[in-house]
Amino acid sequence: MTTTPARVAIAYHSGFGHTARQAEAVATGAASVPGTSTDLVPLDELTDDVWARLNAADAIIFGTPTYMGSPSWVFKKFAEESVKIWAGDLGWRDKIAAGFTNSKAINGDKLNSLVDLAVFAAQHGMIWVGLDIYPGWAESTASIEDLNRLGSWLGAMAQSDGDLSAEKAPPATDLRTAAALGARVATITHRHLRGVQAA
Ligand SMILES: Cc1cc2nc3c(=O)[nH]c(=O)nc-3n(C[C@H](O)[C@H](O)[C@H](O)COP(=O)(O)O)c2cc1C
Repeated sequence: MTTTPARVAIAYHSGFGHTARQAEAVATGAASVPGTSTDLVPLDELTDDVWARLNAADAIIFGTPTYMGSPSWVFKKFAEESVKIWAGDLGWRDKIAAGFTNSKAINGDKLNSLVDLAVFAAQHGMIWVGLDIYPGWAESTASIEDLNRLGSWLGAMAQSDGDLSAEKAPPATDLRTAAALGARVATITHRHLRGVQAA
């Protein structure tokens, strides 16, 4: 393990708290990798402090609810305002990036949100990390409790029943998948930092 600490920021929006639960699980997973510090950064108010915390991170994991088949407008506002980082010689160049989203429907067009996040990261010159878990809940003997039950590779997905509060949704199975994404990003970030040190 590298002696250099890895700093993983989770930049997220959540309208009603469900995606915030997913964000917390991502952070817990990242923090489970020794030598990793995490920073949960809500995007509701884009203060100087928000930009400073994201600039200081080695990895940024982007999270948004899926609203009308895409990231929420609050996340899109953040994405558009980040052009000031982009304009400064790609200020987030070579940071590790990943993404997660949560919505009501099992499908709900969540993939479109993850594609949006991946394109956003690519425009910033970031290095996208997906999920390295075979799809769960996809065999006749499989369980809804399987990791990656929603079968996504581009990022972590979660599903929250529309009548449940954020205390009860998304379910633990999706929070475990979120934690797995966080742990993977932390591990890859440590490897990346070791490579940068060695170069
Ligand atoms: C404006 C709006 C649009 C939505 N669009 C979708 C959608 O396209 N697909 C879906 O499955 N759920 C959709 N939902 C449901 C939310 O994704 C779901 O309630 C989610 O858990 C909200 O997360 P949050 O509490 O972090 O805001 C929508 C909700 C709202 C308020």
